[in-house]
Amino acid sequence: MEMLQRPRRLRGSETLRRMVRETRVSPASLVYPMFTMDGENRVEEIDAMPGQFRYTVDRLGEALDRIAETGVRSVMLFGIPAHKDEIGSQAYAPEGIVQRAVRRAKELHPELLVITDVCMCEYTSHGHCGVLCGCDVDNDRTLELLAKTALSHAEAGADMVAPSDMMDGRVRAIRSALDQHGYDRTPIMSYAVKFASSFYGPFREAAGSAPSFGDRKSYQMDFHNRREALKEALMDVEEGADIVMVKPAMSYLDLVREVRQAVCLPVAAYSVSGEYAMVKAAAANGWIDEAKIVCEMAACAYRAGADIYLSYYAPELAQWMREGRIG
Ligand code: PBG
Repeated sequence: MEMLQRPRRLRGSETLRRMVRETRVSPASLVYPMFTMDGENRVEEIDAMPGQFRYTVDRLGEALDRIAETGVRSVMLFGIPAHKDEIGSQAYAPEGIVQRAVRRAKELHPELLVITDVCMCEYTSHGHCGVLCGCDVDNDRTLELLAKTALSHAEAGADMVAPSDMMDGRVRAIRSALDQHGYDRTPIMSYAVKFASSFYGPFREAAGSAPSFGDRKSYQMDFHNRREALKEALMDVEEGADIVMVKPAMSYLDLVREVRQAVCLPVAAYSVSGEYAMVKAAAANGWIDEAKIVCEMAACAYRAGADIYLSYYAPELAQWMREGRIG
């Protein structure tokens, strides 16, 4: 049969498929999220995230050594304080858990890019991402505390700060606090398009940060919305973000694409704890091929337009990228 176009011609061999491949990946684009907690000499596995751990600062080094060996060059630190209060004071304490972890990480691995999550939910007794006024989060009072938190991370040596709270105006508030104190070269990766998502369930168990009442729908986005995602992304660009993130990743790749097209900044996609837990559970049952599924999820996020991929599978992905199993 006469046919001018036969797309299968370019799929004939692995060599040819690799030659015409449209999405290339590199471990340089990976970020590994990690949990660090107050206390001494403890490493605890997270129930709903098998293979992921909470480390006390004195045990963080062993994890960082392993990660650095895999070729991952960047980590995102989350802190779990021993003491929580109404105003999340451990979030911005100079000797707080993240501040100490950053110092330790930079001391042991100065070459590692250390990003800090800037939020209050792990530090407040009520588990909300800001200070309360009645039953609602007080946006503008929270901004001051977020700016103070980001500044304390930069002072501890963080290479980048990543606000995940979804308060209005936080990027501007943080940019201005950093600039006023001489940290004008510290970039902000904003969780610009962050949805109120059930995919964060395992993380909240890991960080003990589930809200004690209500939910996060008055600040995180409604997952039915698309235009609003663009509004959020463009606002953060205007406020001075250096990188914008879409979160979660897997069910939100349409928005990774749209944000990619709407902004000139690098775009990050965060494959969150629920995505990790689902893959782990199915793999443990022998229902899916873990490595193949994780590589496919990552490749599709890059194809959608992500420049940066945050994943609890980052160390494995770095390895699989080197072995040519992805990209
Ligand atoms: C803090 C924060 C959360 C995540 C990242 N930063 C939890 C939340 O918003 O409830 C979720 C990460 C994950 O699920 O892997 N606000």
